[in-house]
Amino acid sequence: MKEETIAIDGGRQLAGEIEVSGAKNAALPCLFASLLSSKKVVLDNLPLVTDTMTSIEVLKSLGLAVRRQGKKATIDAAKAKSASCEVPLEQARAMRASILALGPLLAKRGEAVVPLPGGCDFGSRPIDIHLRGLRKMGAEIEMKGGVLHARADGLRGQRLTLEFPSFTGTENLMMAACLAQGETIIDNAAREPEIANLAALLVAMGAQIEGAGTSRIAIAGVASLGGASHAVMPDRIEAGTYLAAAAAAQGDLTLRGCGGDELAMVLDKLEDAGAEIESSQDRIGIIMDRRPRAVDIATAPYPGFPTDLQAQFLAVSSIAEGTARIVEGIWEQRFRTADELRLMGADIAVSGSSATVNGVAQLTGAHVQATDLRASAALVIAGLCASGTTVIHNAHHLQRGYEGLAAKLNALGARVRQAGA
Ligand code: EPU
Repeated sequence: MKEETIAIDGGRQLAGEIEVSGAKNAALPCLFASLLSSKKVVLDNLPLVTDTMTSIEVLKSLGLAVRRQGKKATIDAAKAKSASCEVPLEQARAMRASILALGPLLAKRGEAVVPLPGGCDFGSRPIDIHLRGLRKMGAEIEMKGGVLHARADGLRGQRLTLEFPSFTGTENLMMAACLAQGETIIDNAAREPEIANLAALLVAMGAQIEGAGTSRIAIAGVASLGGASHAVMPDRIEAGTYLAAAAAAQGDLTLRGCGGDELAMVLDKLEDAGAEIESSQDRIGIIMDRRPRAVDIATAPYPGFPTDLQAQFLAVSSIAEGTARIVEGIWEQRFRTADELRLMGADIAVSGSSATVNGVAQLTGAHVQATDLRASAALVIAGLCASGTTVIHNAHHLQRGYEGLAAKLNALGARVRQAGA
């Protein structure tokens, strides 16, 4: 397979309007939720990214009939060809979200075989919160050779208190609880808006869920779930990435189809950096006509500053006026971008879970390596404001979560060329 690269001629301001795509981290759980249905589930506004395609492949290999036309997929459980309970190794390794098959398979089919998930590599990525909850609900789960083998003879509703508000952990348990016998309460649940979006789909399918999007979710189990039509919410992380790009490269940018409410903390930080922000229900505008001021950031579960925008703000801080302290509060090792940004002239010192960034006046184009999805986005941002040309190697990471990135940036006046895709 040919290596994918992205080349960026930097130093051009961004101007114009682009549309925000559907959220990857809402689309994937919604796709896996269709495993719970006995009828037809229609999902719209799916982002056209590789993680969406991988999830669809998983559903097909589990026997579901899936027809995708553009951003819309029709998943028909009534036409299921088999009831395989085994997630293929290749897809599980490609994407951490494959763990989201576990709860629905156990609840609906009583069995799941799921290889331990792969995905972005930023330190240990345990799934003990998922497993503890499912075991408490009556599942028997064993690990053999890196593969989870789970069985349940009917799950039972339970009171679950999560040790940490795990995003996909909350989703897996909420989905499993929909078909469990009796009531499940999830305390210390993750509050990400994508969880409320998933719950909206499940409720449309006939589930009884209250409190999704808050730290206590109550689910009354039902005997079966039916069909539904559902639109995936806009991608606040994609939106935040373009806003960070505008903050670094300067310009005047409007994002359509995404409101500012779910990005409140990020918009505050951009204003602190000197940006003029205007947001409504379905638009966010940013005007940046100065070098950004350094701002401190500490990532935390929602509604805190999202870890999935940390690398992008590391890139913004690299060219900011002053010194920024960036603290990563979610993942153990999510500063690998710093090594690549240094190749472009950034002054970043990493110590444990924090980075100190002394802003430099200008970054210089270089050959850099993408290491994961958001790290790749950070390198794109650095490339947009650097002098000369930046070539990002291993750019396939970007396709996992950014729909049409090069086309969107070029529509804003950037010069981005993709090769090898
Ligand atoms: N954790 C545990 N045990 C668990 C699960 C998580 O200790 O069983 C710890 C993790 O080690 C980590 C923290 O809890 O320190 C957060 O993990 P979480 O479970 O919330 O993350 P996730 O559900 O695996 C999702 C997103 C990530 C995003 C994180 C945090 C999806 C498919 N992935 O992962 O998105 O970084 O939440 O917000 O929704 C991305 O899109 O680039 C991405 C990596």
